[in-house]
Order: sequence, then C-alpha cells, then structure tokens
Amino acid sequence: MSEEIDNSKRHFLTVATVVVGAVGVGMTAVPFLSSMQPSARAKALGGPVDIDISKIEPGGLVKAKWRLKPVWVVQRSRAAIAELPKNAGLLRDPDSAEPQQPGYCKNESRAIKPELFVVVPICTHLGCIPLYRPEPGDPSIGPTWPGGFHCPCHGSLYDLAGRVFKNVPAPLNLPVPRYRYVNDKVVRIGEDPAGSHSSYRQPLIW
Ligand code: FES
Repeated sequence: MSEEIDNSKRHFLTVATVVVGAVGVGMTAVPFLSSMQPSARAKALGGPVDIDISKIEPGGLVKAKWRLKPVWVVQRSRAAIAELPKNAGLLRDPDSAEPQQPGYCKNESRAIKPELFVVVPICTHLGCIPLYRPEPGDPSIGPTWPGGFHCPCHGSLYDLAGRVFKNVPAPLNLPVPRYRYVNDKVVRIGEDPAGSHSSYRQPLIW
C-alpha cells in the first residue's frame, strides 16, 4: 500500500516538476468571484472583512483581501471532501499539527464547514500565490493528482485542504485565518466564532 502511495506521489510530483514552466496558461475554467465588502474603517484599521459567498458555485472560488493579504473561499464538492482522507500518507502534516490554523479548524477539512475552505493562499516556501487546481488528474500536474493548489514558483503542492505534500520546497500547510459565519451568505475574516476563543497566533509569513 505505502509503495503504491509512494509511486503515485513520485509520478505526479515528477510530472509537476517537468511542467512547472507551462502552467498558468490553459487553466481549467473555474468561476472566480471578487466579493470583498470591507468598510472604509475596516480597511484603515485592518479589521474584520466580510466576504459574500452567496454566489459561489460548486468548485468555485471567491477572492478577497484582508490586511492587504489575499483570502480565498473555495467551495469543495462532496466528492472532493470524501477524497481528503486518502491524501494523508502523501502529506507532510496531514493532521495539522503545526499551528497554521485556528483550533476550530484543526480537523480533516481544516474548516468550520467542510464544503467551504477559507485560506490565505500564500505559499509557505517563499510567499508566491499558488494556482487553484481543483480537478483530479489535472494534466498539467499528473494523472494521480487529487486536486488542490500548485505553486508555480518552485512546484510546491497542496491538497484541497491546503495541506502540503511531502518532497516539495514548502515546509508547512497553507495558513487558515480566523473566521466565522455571520450567516449562510457571509463569512467574516478576522473574527472567531462565538464561544470559541482562539489563542491562534497568525503565522509570520502573513
Ligand atoms: S514560493 Fe511556492 S514553491 Fe517556492
């Protein structure tokens, strides 16, 4: 079994290395939305930012900014959520032992709701913005690719929970910010859910 996993990992990592210069074009069509709605005061103070998720589509991605950093909200399909446990043997930190997320997101999906993944998409190697590659078997990476994020700078790979794969330059999982649901249509970045005081300290990279 572990040999199977190692072979799969080696295959798609090898392919990813070869094609790293070619990615960025011919991307899978993914609906991107920009829905940041911060108040002027929030902008000025770096306070919480609300993101409208009402129009996000399955497999889609909403982009926003918080404290001048990018924040993405990804809607994962049921199939994608079901695949997450299968990646564990390929990952550097499958259980999120490193403090790259608040305590309430220290779970398999690294999220409050498994279907919505909130992440600061800054590669933990040298800070590039990874590409969103949700399609399993994406030809730009390899047939065993489970879907996730690919950093075009030096080839680091993360699964759809932002967990970094082994044998890539990035040392840590992608950071998850503090956030809470204001309601079904709005996520607020920069605040913990009611009743869950978090001692989470944001990673230095962001
Ligand atoms: S900055 Fe992402 S792999 Fe180097």
